[in-house]
Amino acid sequence: MKAGAETQPQILIIDLGSQYTQIIRRSLRYLGFRSVILSSEQSMTWAKENKNLKGIILSGGSASVYDADAPKLPDAILDLSVPILGICYGMQWISYTYDKTSIHAAQEGKSYGPVVVNFQEKSDLFQGLPESINAWASHGDSLKHAPSGFKILATSSRGKVIEAMENVEKKLWAVEFHPEVEQTEDENIILNNFVEKICGCKKDYSRKDEIEEIRENTKRELGDGTAIIGVSGGVDSTTLAAILAPALGDKLKAFMIDTGGMRQNEIEKVREIAKKAGIKLEVVEKYKDKFIRAVGQSIDAEEKRAHFRQVYGEVFKELAKAYNATHMLQGTLATDLIESGGAGNSAKIKTHHNVGLDLGLKEIMPLSDFFKFEVRELAREFKLDELLASRQPFPGPGLYLRVVGVPVTVELLDIVREADYEVAEILKKHKVYDKIAQTIVALLGVNTVGVKGDGRVYGHSLVVRTVETTDFMTVKGFYLNKEICEEIISVLIKHPKIVRVFFDWTTKPPATTEFE
Ligand code: XMP
Repeated sequence: MKAGAETQPQILIIDLGSQYTQIIRRSLRYLGFRSVILSSEQSMTWAKENKNLKGIILSGGSASVYDADAPKLPDAILDLSVPILGICYGMQWISYTYDKTSIHAAQEGKSYGPVVVNFQEKSDLFQGLPESINAWASHGDSLKHAPSGFKILATSSRGKVIEAMENVEKKLWAVEFHPEVEQTEDENIILNNFVEKICGCKKDYSRKDEIEEIRENTKRELGDGTAIIGVSGGVDSTTLAAILAPALGDKLKAFMIDTGGMRQNEIEKVREIAKKAGIKLEVVEKYKDKFIRAVGQSIDAEEKRAHFRQVYGEVFKELAKAYNATHMLQGTLATDLIESGGAGNSAKIKTHHNVGLDLGLKEIMPLSDFFKFEVRELAREFKLDELLASRQPFPGPGLYLRVVGVPVTVELLDIVREADYEVAEILKKHKVYDKIAQTIVALLGVNTVGVKGDGRVYGHSLVVRTVETTDFMTVKGFYLNKEICEEIISVLIKHPKIVRVFFDWTTKPPATTEFE
């Protein structure tokens, strides 16, 4: 039983449609506090019934307070007499509620990106921070002025943008930037100040009992049933299978499906890891051609994902039937759910291959609350091989997402597979591989002119993308030095059909980590 699990969480997060709502909860968990995320409709009833409630955080959201369908909060939330922190849209809602003239509607579209926030007044919320920090903003509307009774605490852009305000008497704090994302360089101090100093919360969350809790919850959900799980060799599914294998015994059947889009030597590596982790793994190879035929029908990113998903679903349906399975275990993480539009009110960015598959089986997603770095910590806690815990992630649809703009063929998959292997070897040789969160090597299907030997070549390009991140909700480029870039180029252009090599260090947003 987890520490404090018998009592209700002390912090209520109200989801107003931000991509980052789950990250607020993750950050609080990291700081040692449990919280619950609810929609504005659910929030009042829960808040009134929960005697343990110490504070409320209003998430950001993509709406404008002027939109007819903007998320509305019951005004009564302001009378609960617990501290409230409004983030981004949450701040705008607070401001608008007290003063209808206080909000500028977005004039030139939404603004995303880094801002330098200058703190000009002392506040418990910012205790321990320097006079200014680099922060991450993502908003359209902004405050023209603070409502009467509110003190402006921080601004950016030479005082033009109000970044924070408070009304201590009314127990209201608000920030325009996003303290929960890692681009805001506050080391989680702001959220910690809010929950610990302002709300007076006591720590009620420890990672120690997490594994036991995952096992117990899964056993309870599974009952007398049998579960199947697809193990890809990635951190998520492998960690989940390793956690559950001893607890479920014969009630768990673990499969690795060779989709044809795997990395070089992947199957052997996964077999090895599974063996060490005590997972009885069956490798299924017979569906490879089916995947290639289906995904190769289209060059559109979402259609390719849909085809992959369709075949993936069919394969698991067949396996479930063959093994009389009742449940499907998924290593799906919070990020996957958020970006597939499956978590709360956030927008859909990409269809994930294994989210919301209708297999006629009950789905169990024991990690749906977790972020990547937390799963890595679980893997370590579970004494899983360090190799597994520090492996770079690889998406389910694999190399299929890395042949861009042309129909996927066996030949093109082979080119990216080989290139991916070569690049990884170079990065390992230069001792940077472990510092990179993910390396993506993709083939761009646009032909450009090159010259090889004495002849004209009209061929494809490869692009190498190396990124840094902890949660993949946002990423920044991991810049490679000239020597490494030169070595990568010289190795990759050896292939007769490759004429150019590009490097891509675009941040997410606006780019995503993968190309498709
Ligand atoms: P994006 O491209 O959405 O990727 O920024 C974030 C992380 O998720 C991985 N990814 C996937 N993983 N199935 C998966 O299992 C998928 O369909 C999928 N799409 C992206 C991606 O490699 C990165 O680590």
